[in-house]
Amino acid sequence: MPTIRERWSSRSSFVFAAIGSAIGLGNVWRFPYITYQNGGGAFLIPYFVALITAGIPLMILEYYVGQETQRAPPTALKKIWKKSEWIGWFSVCLVFLLSTYYSTIMSWCVNYFYQSFTLGWGSTPEAINNFFNNTLLGKSGSPGILGGIQMPVLIGLAITWISIYLCLFRGVKILGKIVYFTVCIPWLLLIIMVIRGLSLPGAIEGLNFYLTPDFSVLLKPQAWLAAYGQIFYTLSLAMGTLIIYASYQPKDSDITANAFITSLANCGTAFLAGFAVFSTLGYLAQSMGVSVPEVTKSGLGLAFVTYPTAINLLPVASRFFGAFFFLLLLTLGIDSAFSEVEPVVGSIVDKWGLKKKWVLPLVCIFGFLVGILYSTRGGFYWVDLADHFICNYGITLVGLLECIVIGYVFGARKARSCINEVSDVRIGPWWDVFIKFITPIVLGVSFIMQLIKLIQNGYGNYPIWTIFTGMGFIVLLLILSVILSRRKGVSDE
Ligand code: PHE
Repeated sequence: MPTIRERWSSRSSFVFAAIGSAIGLGNVWRFPYITYQNGGGAFLIPYFVALITAGIPLMILEYYVGQETQRAPPTALKKIWKKSEWIGWFSVCLVFLLSTYYSTIMSWCVNYFYQSFTLGWGSTPEAINNFFNNTLLGKSGSPGILGGIQMPVLIGLAITWISIYLCLFRGVKILGKIVYFTVCIPWLLLIIMVIRGLSLPGAIEGLNFYLTPDFSVLLKPQAWLAAYGQIFYTLSLAMGTLIIYASYQPKDSDITANAFITSLANCGTAFLAGFAVFSTLGYLAQSMGVSVPEVTKSGLGLAFVTYPTAINLLPVASRFFGAFFFLLLLTLGIDSAFSEVEPVVGSIVDKWGLKKKWVLPLVCIFGFLVGILYSTRGGFYWVDLADHFICNYGITLVGLLECIVIGYVFGARKARSCINEVSDVRIGPWWDVFIKFITPIVLGVSFIMQLIKLIQNGYGNYPIWTIFTGMGFIVLLLILSVILSRRKGVSDE
């Protein structure tokens, strides 16, 4: 039988946990680059619009679903509407996969952190490139060639999973204390990195590049899609995380103010991270005598190749700042990583009434075992592919389905009046409009456009079979979710 539900020790523990989940690796390598790529300062307009029209409304919705039902995503959605349990399982499958590759990226950070004490990644840009691609990842050249296992990556992965386990095993009360550290330490480190970055020569060039607005992007659908995608990813939406976290809140807790605080803290941090990253890139460009775009790499290359190059060039204390930067990534990432595992564990516990102390280690071991694929020499490509499929199709699909279930089946108005009953800040009918029309339309259009693009151009330079594998996998997860939702659970007896 399910026992008394776990509880956060205070409201701020819950808010910090949600902020910790939201602020993650995505804020440092994804946000600044996407901003630059989509019109610099002008991108903040679609970003802000996406936050208001989809991010905050959906966050309110997820907090409500968790808090009202006091259950993990599958059983929570089932309580809302009997037929929607599978949507919850689908999000749980996705977030589990997300955790497997997210922990792999954390493992790379562990390795870089270790190397930073000796600047072991080399001194020239070529050496650093070589360190990342060949020494650490041993890239095989294709996802079809797995090659051997890269031991340092595997060891980093084991360290990451052990840390995730240690953070979660004492339950939500202790977790609520851990998150104060995992949120405040990176904030402190980030502020130091921003001050350091801004004091470097050439910083202004970098910032100009980051923030100079190019308003013509507002006419490009791509920039709007990128803004919505980024908002979903960064706020940890549609992955079950916010539902499970909210389910540990008492039923009468505030919803709307918590959602506003979480999302604004997250977006503010992302904006600040841009200052740390681009001021340093400005310095790198000036030191190398090239322009800022020439040193700007996308995504993972930014954190693991470009940034270490800049760190090496620092006139003083480069090892110190190298260690700082990777410690920043590790402390930013760990609370996102465990927030990806908690929904999986919580869902199994809630459905079958199993003991958390057994489910958690099993999920961690299984997550580690899946991670072995990413630790192979072909692993980098699988990280990239998993990220592409989960973030572009998975999240959008779940978000869309959640809006439909709450907006139409349960009734947006009914949900809103329940939310307003417990919240200090009341939301108006605008929320219904967003949940019923605007958010699902944007998500639907984005899903279809991404799909058309995939069919027309494939993804990156990957062979076509990888695309079929990715798509096939999503379909397989959907089937698995339906099967899981049909199994009898403790609440059905
Ligand atoms: N929001 C996290 C980041 O920015 C990623 C994440 C997504 C975490 C979904 C949990 C759930 O890095």
